[in-house]
Amino acid sequence: MDGKREIDQGTSNRRKLFVKSYGCQMNVYDASRMADVLAPEGFDETSEIEDADLIILNTCHIRERASEKIFSELGKVRVLKEERAAQGRETMIAVAGCVAQAEGAEIIRRQPAVDVVVGPQSYHRLPDLLSEAREKRAFGRRPGVVDTDFPVEDKFDALTQPTAEKTRARGVSAFVTVQEGCDKFCTFCVVPYTRGAEFSRPVDRILSEVERLTAHGVREITLLGQNVNAWHGIGPDGKAWTLGRLLRRLSDVPGVARLRYMTSHPRDMDDELIAAHGDLPQLMPFLHLPVQAGSDRILEAMNRRHTAQDYIDLVWRIRSVRPDIALSSDFIVGFPGETEAEFQATLDLIEEVGFASTFSFKYSSRPGTPAAEMDGHIPHEVMAERLGRLQTLVEAQRQAFNQETVGVTTEMLVEKPGRYSGQIGGKTPWLQAVHADGDVSLIGQVVPVRIVGLSSNSLLGELLDKPLQERRA
Ligand code: 5AD
Ligand code: SF4
Repeated sequence: MDGKREIDQGTSNRRKLFVKSYGCQMNVYDASRMADVLAPEGFDETSEIEDADLIILNTCHIRERASEKIFSELGKVRVLKEERAAQGRETMIAVAGCVAQAEGAEIIRRQPAVDVVVGPQSYHRLPDLLSEAREKRAFGRRPGVVDTDFPVEDKFDALTQPTAEKTRARGVSAFVTVQEGCDKFCTFCVVPYTRGAEFSRPVDRILSEVERLTAHGVREITLLGQNVNAWHGIGPDGKAWTLGRLLRRLSDVPGVARLRYMTSHPRDMDDELIAAHGDLPQLMPFLHLPVQAGSDRILEAMNRRHTAQDYIDLVWRIRSVRPDIALSSDFIVGFPGETEAEFQATLDLIEEVGFASTFSFKYSSRPGTPAAEMDGHIPHEVMAERLGRLQTLVEAQRQAFNQETVGVTTEMLVEKPGRYSGQIGGKTPWLQAVHADGDVSLIGQVVPVRIVGLSSNSLLGELLDKPLQERRA
């Protein structure tokens, strides 16, 4: 009986955390870091929002009406908070991410059920902000606490490092943010305003995070940044390194089987980075390199600082050192003033380059950005029609790319059990999902596989012989 009570007390001290993340991989990474910061405070993650004592909406500001969607989501969360309150259960609500950064105190003014608004640079302060918010409510003061300061420097270091257990739970592929913010100021984009100026983490911090991850079984590292190839962190020699040099250093870390990085800007693909693609077997032949559009006039109006031909030349320079590299890109259709001929130039560029995968969007006006003030906004139906044509073309290229992999012998990093028992799932070097018959004991290994077929969203593989000699382990 006593023992039972002890256990009950033990579990009742733990609280449940639900994080809903919108948008990019940076947010997925930040969601994990928030969970890490809150774990020592007694929070365990749950996938059931109704069970959550703390709900965090980790928002993205890039899409159209992002803020409106968050306010409508907050309306639903408020109802949940009231229902739980009626049962005597407290629920705290936090809004994080770029909408939090952009809207700040306005969020609490419009939705007083929100307890904390926290910008991307202040996640390490979450426990303090939550207790401050709770105190304010308890003392009947105006609810809500806002922290949207911009001191990037202390954020990374202050975030608790993931525990061994958490690292294992997250599997063999991990993200490491090396850079935040952007100085490019593409005229359609809010990132330079919401995430601020570029900041690069120093080499020693990145190295120790990567070493800790590999020590816990991580085999693939994806370096993240809004403009990751602009990374120029300080090395142990006191000089600013390039991303190419960092990748070279990381490829020497024992256990690192695969390296990737995203998202890159064409202007920041320097010679050292391109050479790394030719030299480093760990650097996977897949590059997300957004071009956005194919018309030089539109590229200029977007302030992309490169022409369509610059992009095509760059692709060929990369292909000359790594011929099997697969490319992926983001596209915006219907930028203000885009004519049918200018849209056609985007299709021409897609035909010429050939992409393995893409993300494509209708232009959406973001208040405060230069493009929002431009003339010639394109009607929605026109954008929808153009997007449809573009997506038909890139989908055909994606399928053709996958089809070309059939019959190829390659390697897969085994990441998880497959859909059925006796099956494993993983990725090819070109980031394609692949399933094969195999034992879960192979998870974490890079194994040779022949691709024998395609299913709707993944490749089917057959494992060959024994696992290859591990490259660097
Ligand atoms: N409208 C449409 N798409 C946008 N993106 C960024 N801002 C906008 C906008 N205002 C797209 C770009 C970028 C991706 C992350 O989101 O293609 O590369
Ligand atoms: Fe936005 Fe990317 Fe342009 Fe930076 S480079 S302003 S993040 S679209």
